Amino acid sequence: MPKSLTVKTAKLPAAKAPLLVIYAAEGEAPAGAAGDIWAATGLDWKRLSSIGHFTGKPGQLLDIPAPAGLDADRLFVLGSGKPAAAAESAGLTAWADRGGSLMAKLAASGADKVAVIIDEPEAGAAEIAEIAAGLRLRHYDFDKYKTGKGKEENGKPADMTVTFSVKDKPATDKAIYARMAVAEGTMLARDLVNEPANILGPVEFAERAATLSELGIKAEILTDKDMANLGMGSLLCVAAGSPRPARMVVMQWNGGKKSDAPVAFVGKGVVFDSGGISIKPAASMEDMKGDMGGAAAVTGLMHALAARKAKVNAVGVIGLVENMVDGLSVRPGDIVTAMSGTTIEVINTDAEGRLVLADALWYTQDRFKPKFMVNLATLTGAIMVALGKENAGLFSNNDELAAHLFNAGQASGETLWRMPLGPGYDKLIESRFADIKNTGGRLGGAITAAQFLQRFVNNVPWAHLDIAGTGFASKESEINRSWGSGFGVALLNQLVADHYEG
Ligand code: BES
Ligand code: MN
Ligand code: ZN
Repeated sequence: MPKSLTVKTAKLPAAKAPLLVIYAAEGEAPAGAAGDIWAATGLDWKRLSSIGHFTGKPGQLLDIPAPAGLDADRLFVLGSGKPAAAAESAGLTAWADRGGSLMAKLAASGADKVAVIIDEPEAGAAEIAEIAAGLRLRHYDFDKYKTGKGKEENGKPADMTVTFSVKDKPATDKAIYARMAVAEGTMLARDLVNEPANILGPVEFAERAATLSELGIKAEILTDKDMANLGMGSLLCVAAGSPRPARMVVMQWNGGKKSDAPVAFVGKGVVFDSGGISIKPAASMEDMKGDMGGAAAVTGLMHALAARKAKVNAVGVIGLVENMVDGLSVRPGDIVTAMSGTTIEVINTDAEGRLVLADALWYTQDRFKPKFMVNLATLTGAIMVALGKENAGLFSNNDELAAHLFNAGQASGETLWRMPLGPGYDKLIESRFADIKNTGGRLGGAITAAQFLQRFVNNVPWAHLDIAGTGFASKESEINRSWGSGFGVALLNQLVADHYEG
């Protein structure tokens, strides 16, 4: 990948560059402005595409060096897939994928200046903005700890400028600006997830989140002492074994009407999860630097909402702790009291995320009386057993909120699958000694974890997203090759944009 990527737009038919990119749909010749460019080469489309085995499927490439009749050194013809009529159901995610696929081709080409002609009738501002975002998200690479030699871009230009030639430049620029704000939020979340725990502890994470004040977000940091005064015995017991103190960050973006109750997002931020005294096996324990994926998504979302000046009042609350093994660690059998007053018997110190969220959720509803709360957490291995890496688990006490979230998932490509809640599962977390215990046994582990959280939402419309399978080491896609995925940012931005703005 080139080190830096600049995305620009120009009004059709402008944009000259050493590398020119046009598209052709499945079974069709380049059309419109792309057709004009093709005509200038004087080449025979039928012959060239058949010899090049080019059918127009996404990802296909005809690479034509030194094309006659053009200033460009090179012409790329890329497949854009099914023509519009046949592809109607594809939605916007297909356009982002097109951008991701394009980035991979451009990086391999070694070009530094690229002009991309987008002249399909179905490519409006929103669609082109998706292409641009896909380009940007595929370009993302967490390589800050690769010194010198190892860096991939050696021998290739460090900077790339891609100019999209479009019909309506002002509308496209506006759409790209808003969509890039969301992509930036996703990349912020990826950065936070990818960063190792020795660099990003609770204090450092909190400081990073507080820098969102530059975008007009009001950010407060609660220290461990503040949380002790609030009675957050549940969250704090997780941090007891770490020399690095717990933090909570409260981020507020007030872009809506003053009188409007906010929407609230709550994230699990375990910067490292060793399991504590109920210690995890060594295999893949390094992945537990990503156990703050929920908090990262909330932080990225707040960035996105502020950067695109969303017309909504939104609150983001993240609970930041490190779960370590120490003489001061919480023990199995210990009983702690949450801020709500509920007593919790800690059966397994590795079921720590729910202990963090218990106080974060209670605090959020108590202080902000939000319209709803959505929490995100890399909460259970069990959700991966149930859903793999295809969907995050969706649990909710409110059918309308659940439907809004499901639909936002389909639209954004960050998909969800709803899981059940119910009194039968709730029974499994009754404790012999305290009000509840923090594990419900082997069966239905993702569900009993959700039941635990529900004890702390106090009848507020609420949804829990278990992102253990999607927050990191998730499946590769055209727009994501990073370990930390940033899952949740695009999804929740979509939720807000579709239902809670204006
Ligand atoms: N952070 C883990 C869940 C996890 C595991 C996320 C693997 C991503 C990848 C969580 O804190 C945990 O340890 N959960 C336990 C709960 C159990 C002890 C009831 C689990 O899922 O095994
Ligand atoms: Mn754990
Ligand atoms: Zn955890």
